[in-house]
Amino acid sequence: MLRVDGLSAWYGDAQALREVSIRVDEGEIVTLIGRNGAGKTTLLRCLMGLHDTYGRTAGTVSLSGEEITGLAPHRRARSGLGFVPDDRGVYATLSVEENLMLPPMHKAGGTGGPEPWSLERVYETFPKLRERRRFPGTKLSGGEQQMLALARVLRTGARLLLCDEPTEGLSPLIVQQIGDILREVKAAGVTVLLIEQNVHFAATVADRHYLLAEGRVVESLDNDQVREREHELLGYLGI
Ligand SMILES: Nc1ncnc2c1ncn2[C@@H]1O[C@H](COP(=O)(O)OP(=O)(O)OP(=O)(O)O)[C@@H](O)[C@H]1O
Ligand SMILES: [Mg+2]
Repeated sequence: MLRVDGLSAWYGDAQALREVSIRVDEGEIVTLIGRNGAGKTTLLRCLMGLHDTYGRTAGTVSLSGEEITGLAPHRRARSGLGFVPDDRGVYATLSVEENLMLPPMHKAGGTGGPEPWSLERVYETFPKLRERRRFPGTKLSGGEQQMLALARVLRTGARLLLCDEPTEGLSPLIVQQIGDILREVKAAGVTVLLIEQNVHFAATVADRHYLLAEGRVVESLDNDQVREREHELLGYLGI
């Protein structure tokens, strides 16, 4: 579904990504693991077409066999990419429901991809959001904001979610809920590329993993490898 070939990115003269090549197949959940500053967020921003304001890029990105390199972010959204940024991007002065209704819905590709989620389906999957639907964004907990950010992207009809550290700063119980939601999202036919530092959680939710270091993909790992090396990986990541 997603194919990235030789992707490099710079901030001015400083190179943040070095010929990154990865692929994500339809229906998979794949994680990006790496230390602070490894280039994980930069990679997601490049995939969404959001790096151009920071600096130049090189390499190619394809979605379902079509090259999207050079397309503007809204065109990528229309082709089925959905981005959940690390700050969650919840509008503080808008209500939960207004936040949900904000982005336009797309019918990506028209070739059997996931349908945009109706408001009713969103509320069935995220009952907390129904309860809080008249609340302003500012009154939500971190976990509720994360759920709102995920739900909002699902409502657009995205078929590939790019999620930047959805579990960061959340309690174990909420992390577990995010895991359940990601599994549900996967069951609904949505593909996910997920930045995740919690490698224990990553191995429970994902199909496989890429380890990024200093802007390069240095290893490709399956769940068994992550479980066997959990201790070493946590030490390496400085957690
Ligand atoms: N706006 C920016 N201007 C200049 N350099 C930046 C900018 N954003 C990131 N960088 C640099 O690019 C490199 C990769 O940063 P990036 O944010 O992609 O890392 P990350 O893996 O997401 O880290 P973290 O785990 O801390 O979120 C780092 O060296 C960082 O200092
Ligand atoms: Mg980051």
